Amino acid sequence: MTNGFAPLNHSPFGFHFPIPLRFSRMRRAIYPGSFDPVTNRHLDVIERARKLFDEVVVAVAHNDEKQPLFSLEQRLDLLRETAGRIENVRIAEFSGLLVEFARAQNAGAVIRGLRAVSDFEFEFQMALMNRNLNAAVETIFLMPKEEYTYLSSRIVKEIARLGGNVSTFVPGCVAKALSGKFSQ
Ligand code: PNS
Repeated sequence: MTNGFAPLNHSPFGFHFPIPLRFSRMRRAIYPGSFDPVTNRHLDVIERARKLFDEVVVAVAHNDEKQPLFSLEQRLDLLRETAGRIENVRIAEFSGLLVEFARAQNAGAVIRGLRAVSDFEFEFQMALMNRNLNAAVETIFLMPKEEYTYLSSRIVKEIARLGGNVSTFVPGCVAKALSGKFSQ
């Protein structure tokens, strides 16, 4: 999908001709987040989302005000390494309003992983605010595997900072990057 045309076009006339993407009915979703760093819970949500949509754009927020542990480029690299080769998944970055990015990407949905009741208030507020800003973008909540309900990037960073083993919570390259950060 590099030339701006949708590949699938079964013509009743017996030959194929490309349809420009803006006219195609591709169902595209944005999965936004800080991904500081990507965890197995994020990867689980990506796997679920990609079965529901033609394309999932994993969108890394610049989020400088959150003072992330990993730079934007490092967060993107870790995602490229872990999810970049998954079919119908694309890694991107965004700054500014999420709904504007969704509009620019021609996406009709935003995916958020919902772990527990504690997530709900913030997620509910964000979903309703985003709907207020752009009613054409629907927020869809996906529940990760039960074993990941307690997992967050923040907790993983804390465990790694204190010298704990995070290898069951994050992909190998992320565990390596974390130990690199905290051994400096
Ligand atoms: O992984 P996170 O930190 O929970 O992700 C939060 C994120 C990046 C999805 C959220 O902060 C966001 O959408 N930021 C973009 C700015 C924006 O659109 N703000 C209005 C949302 S109500």
